[in-house]
Amino acid sequence: VFGVRCLVLSGGRGTRLRPLTFSLAKQLVPVANRPILGWVLDRVAEVGVRDVGVVVAPDTGWAVREFVGDGGEWGFRVEYIVQEPLGLAHAVKVARRFLGDDDFLMCLGDNLLGSSIRGFVDRFEGEGLDGLILLKEVEDPRRFGVAVLDGEGRVVRLVEKPSEPPSNLALVGVYVFSRRVHEAVDRIRPSWRGELEITDAIQEMINMGCRVGAEVLDSWWIDTGKKDDVLTANAVVLDEYVVRDVRGEVVGSRVEGRVRVEEGARVVDSVVRGPCVIGRGCVVENSFIGPYTSVGDGSRIVNSSVEYCVIMEGSVVENVERLEESLVGRNARVARRGGRGVVRLHVGDYSEVEV
Ligand code: DAU
Repeated sequence: VFGVRCLVLSGGRGTRLRPLTFSLAKQLVPVANRPILGWVLDRVAEVGVRDVGVVVAPDTGWAVREFVGDGGEWGFRVEYIVQEPLGLAHAVKVARRFLGDDDFLMCLGDNLLGSSIRGFVDRFEGEGLDGLILLKEVEDPRRFGVAVLDGEGRVVRLVEKPSEPPSNLALVGVYVFSRRVHEAVDRIRPSWRGELEITDAIQEMINMGCRVGAEVLDSWWIDTGKKDDVLTANAVVLDEYVVRDVRGEVVGSRVEGRVRVEEGARVVDSVVRGPCVIGRGCVVENSFIGPYTSVGDGSRIVNSSVEYCVIMEGSVVENVERLEESLVGRNARVARRGGRGVVRLHVGDYSEVEV
């Protein structure tokens, strides 16, 4: 079993997911009706970690605490560390007392992985490294930290969000470090975006002569930074995890394939095609719910067709002929009223509407 500690970063600002993140930590945005952070902590639990430090932001930390609680659901102990969002390496600095001089696993609370990281962590221990990073080939490396490897697979250089990427290997948000990372963090300065970058700290470790290894991930990886990434994550997670389980009431309807209908939900005169989940107490009436859709608890979908969407809890979709590839926040209402071609909106700051 791996050492003892893990740091999970669940703070930050979440600006790319506004307006949802005005009132919600981005790690709590649900995929398959469960906060992203829940799926991340499942991966952490698989490694056998006993103590987890959860880094939270001052404004959204309370909601993260409410969800994670004492960690009992995952079988580890949790300590909360409040951090102003000043960068991933800054989070390591603020967590110094929790981390002590132990080796630790660090996971970003918004990164979903298709496979266990047990083998990755074992390799760090087995080879006695100071740092181990996880990489994945991506189409647009400019959105990420990027690594350059030499012929033998050793890390030679790292750059954060380069405008001219030196490779297509992006840094996945999973790292393992020895205590030497703290020395590196103390030596770096804030980047152009004003953050202490973990990427710069790892580069500094290499400059200091530390042994830093890299591994390329075989499975899928999704950084749920933006709306489309959340929809992709929702689809992938529904596809992998949903089994048919119909607990609610189904009347005059067809429920096809891998569909989970939670307790207290009512599906009336509708077609529901999996993979999808319909939360507790939802009402689906005279509607079509298409594949890759999650409907949060207590929502109402009436006279509508919804496909490839995340509808969060307590929302209403009414008389909408075809809603696709959409992310709808909590207690929102999307409805058609009045004649064709008429659009009436009440939209929050930084929202996006395509009609
Ligand atoms: O997703 C992988 C990428 O994550 C890496 O390729 C980059 O090298 C790495 O810098 C990071 O980039 P992002 O710009 O995507 O990081 P973001 O600001 O989204 O923060 C990642 C997670 O860490 C997120 O769950 C919020 C949390 N966070 C972020 C900051 C800046 C904190 O807890 N504290 C912070 O100060």
